[in-house]
Amino acid sequence: MIQTSAGFRGLVQSQRLGSFQSKLGACYNYASGAASSLQHACEPSTYSDGDYADVDWDNLGFGLLPTDYMYRMKCFKDGKFEQGQLSRYGNIELSPSAGVLNYGQGLFEGTKAYRKENGCLLLFRPDQNAIQMKIGAERMCMPSPSIDQFVDAVKQTALANKRWAPPPGKGTLYIRPLLMGTGPVLGLAPAPEYTFLVYASPVGNYFKEGLAPLNLYVEDEYHRASRGGAGCVKTISNYAPVLKAITKAKNRGFSDVLYLDSLNKKYLEEVSSCNIFIVKGNVISTPATNGTILSGVTRKSIIEIAQDLGYEVEERVISVDELVNVDEVFCTGTAVVIAPVGSITYQDKRIEYRTGAYSLSRKLYSTLVGIQMGLIEDKKGWTLEIR
Ligand code: COI
Repeated sequence: MIQTSAGFRGLVQSQRLGSFQSKLGACYNYASGAASSLQHACEPSTYSDGDYADVDWDNLGFGLLPTDYMYRMKCFKDGKFEQGQLSRYGNIELSPSAGVLNYGQGLFEGTKAYRKENGCLLLFRPDQNAIQMKIGAERMCMPSPSIDQFVDAVKQTALANKRWAPPPGKGTLYIRPLLMGTGPVLGLAPAPEYTFLVYASPVGNYFKEGLAPLNLYVEDEYHRASRGGAGCVKTISNYAPVLKAITKAKNRGFSDVLYLDSLNKKYLEEVSSCNIFIVKGNVISTPATNGTILSGVTRKSIIEIAQDLGYEVEERVISVDELVNVDEVFCTGTAVVIAPVGSITYQDKRIEYRTGAYSLSRKLYSTLVGIQMGLIEDKKGWTLEIR
């Protein structure tokens, strides 16, 4: 069943903590290394399912709220990651000549845990983030954790910080896996040692606009990625270079920046932190992954959901000139989820788009988040329930 977003929000907001606490039901009791390594590395956990951290859950944004634990796993010269473990969240020590500090040899991922009414946490396709990190690691000449190691670390981090997972409908526990060259290098070369680290923070909406439509600015001076570069992977070095363009756009009152390809300055690429889709009638289009576009777990999921709903989805080259002739535009990403775009400004011309209760982006948002929260049946095996 698909609910409208308004109905869906009403539903989740009416869920009360009391009913959540009394409804702890059966769910997969994830024990693998979590409990044991937590107890070896830290003081015994006094956590019980009913506990919540002291957070103003109604006013979560996308800022860091430090949580209790982080997970760390190291890889030395043999290219294999040793057994990782949880420790108290805190600062880490790095050599001044660490590869990540000197040459930007680092990758990150983002994934979320949703708290269900029955007290379990629901992860969404963490294996896909693991695969994305593996592909990125290959591009950046780094060893990477196996898919099992990655997913296990995400589970352990989520469970150890469970009291920071917002009540259902109030937000999510954002989980940030990092892979870094932490060994010392001076000459330009891959680092001799690597650290895989996972931390978490409760989050609400990514944009300060909340779920309100974004006003994007098309940037034709700065670019996010170029052919042959690393735009298709989640390297940390893809993000600092766009800060200048974001700052410029925000100073002019825009929500964020839409980048064009660096060669022709004509084809749509991505928004700073998310992928972009356009809608015309029954056809949904998104830039094809040609080396400069991140394929994105939310992007892939939305393509499948839209196809299941009967829409035609095209991954192709999209000219900026097409923006004058489309019904709807929206962005997708783990942090962003699905954000409707109300307007795009290109060369001082502002184009407006359909948004609101009857928009396709609202329908896709309700379906995706419904699956992620466990409110809509997951027929694809995308969610992983842990407790
Ligand atoms: C995410 O969507 O999880 C990201 O990693 C984007 C980041 C810039 C917040």
